[in-house]
Amino acid sequence: MVAEAQRDRDRLVVLVSGTGTNLQALLDAQARPGFPAEVVAVGSDRSDAGGLIRAERAELPTFVVDPAEFGAGSGKVWDRAGWDRLLAARIAAHQPDWIVSAGFMRLLGSTVLSDFPNLVINTHPALLPAFPGAHAVHDALEYGVKVTGCTVHVIDAGVDTGPIIAQEAVTVAGDDTVESLHERIKQVERELLVAVVERLATSGLNLNGRKVD
Ligand code: GRF
Repeated sequence: MVAEAQRDRDRLVVLVSGTGTNLQALLDAQARPGFPAEVVAVGSDRSDAGGLIRAERAELPTFVVDPAEFGAGSGKVWDRAGWDRLLAARIAAHQPDWIVSAGFMRLLGSTVLSDFPNLVINTHPALLPAFPGAHAVHDALEYGVKVTGCTVHVIDAGVDTGPIIAQEAVTVAGDDTVESLHERIKQVERELLVAVVERLATSGLNLNGRKVD
């Protein structure tokens, strides 16, 4: 009966570059009875991503599409489009309903985005549109904001510019370092991501222009 019920769950492919605690939050959530989504595969741009170990521990298929194999870091122009096409094919092989970029530190290209329109979401450790990019926590701290937080959004062609699905605020402490602040943000971020995935898998994405209802 359980297997029958779980066949209807939305399929998630999760992309990671780092330790994968957001991935772990999804894996923990899917163990809850009635959770409407399940991770079916985990992909990365780096073979040493800690998130891949979490996936293997959960007996999930993994894949790595390494930009270095497309000339990234060689000092020459790299074949970004080729990398993106292979990434799209690897993702598609798992027939996902949603793709979750959870600490995936690469911009997705036009093939992934056109093959999965409005189906790719990202979690970001700042209150967008403030502090987009790879150093959001550092940038917020340097700027001196008193409140920052996290955002889960739909990925579009820009850098952290897509429609915002949900946000949560986190207060900055006077003695915060990048590490302490990021850790507090991540505690909130993991819960927010799980809540968003649950909502998407239950009701879909209701997009009205830039606004998510
Ligand atoms: C998260 O804060 C994510 O928003 C950022 O990198 C962190 C990844 O953490 N881009 P983890 O790998 O899920 O632990």
